[in-house]
Amino acid sequence: MNRLNKRQGCRHAQRELQERLPDIYPYVVADILRYCKPDKGLWVDLGSGDGGIGLELARESGSTVVLIDPNAEALGKAARKAAGAGLECRVLTVASCAEALPLPDGIADLVVSRGSIFFWDDSPEGLREVYRILRRGARAMIGGGLGQDYPQWARQEFTRRRHEDVRNRDPGAYAEFKRVRHSDTFKRWAQAAGLSDFTVVGEGARNPARADAGLGIWLRFTKE
Ligand SMILES: C[S@@+](CC[C@H](N)C(=O)[O-])C[C@H]1O[C@@H](n2cnc3c(N)ncnc32)[C@H](O)[C@@H]1O
Repeated sequence: MNRLNKRQGCRHAQRELQERLPDIYPYVVADILRYCKPDKGLWVDLGSGDGGIGLELARESGSTVVLIDPNAEALGKAARKAAGAGLECRVLTVASCAEALPLPDGIADLVVSRGSIFFWDDSPEGLREVYRILRRGARAMIGGGLGQDYPQWARQEFTRRRHEDVRNRDPGAYAEFKRVRHSDTFKRWAQAAGLSDFTVVGEGARNPARADAGLGIWLRFTKE
């Protein structure tokens, strides 16, 4: 499967997974703001897709939010949604990959990325780029999950659908799905990126029947 198909499949799955469940983005954004406590300024949503996280961040703040994703079609949709919400002055879209961010050093007051690092061709290189563009003292939160206060019943149902979806693809896909969401993988990526001070929170993809299903896995770090 080429990279574009992989991304389109990803968006399609996201829509189906959320059907008739509460919107996940306000919950994830609440976690991001609670942990990162970012200064108002320039915030980056990396691997933004059509802007679920980035638009919610813009709505919740007076910051300018840059949505970065290699999928120009998804960015176009995000830009239309931003215009519809009257946020077009503070939401910018940039077609690019994590591994080569077209932003100067030290410009970002926050970098977040949900559900995207699993698809990067070179995760350590993407993390080095995130660190490079962060302002000193600013934080990054990179990973995936549904938000700590997302209702328990919905977290379990979302996670059940997600596991079923991946299991039905092929046996290798499910093993890979779990491997990239394992805390050891996240630690390896962070170390390979040269990060010395970081935290990995959560246990990644777990059995949907568990009470912590859907809490996901996040890498958090601060620019020194
Ligand atoms: C599952 S979607 C997540 C979208 C959005 N962040 C969300 O939470 O709904 C994964 C996104 O990562 C993007 N992506 C894939 N490879 C990437 C890369 N190398 N750098 C940045 N984004 C990438 C895809 O285009 C896709 O939009």
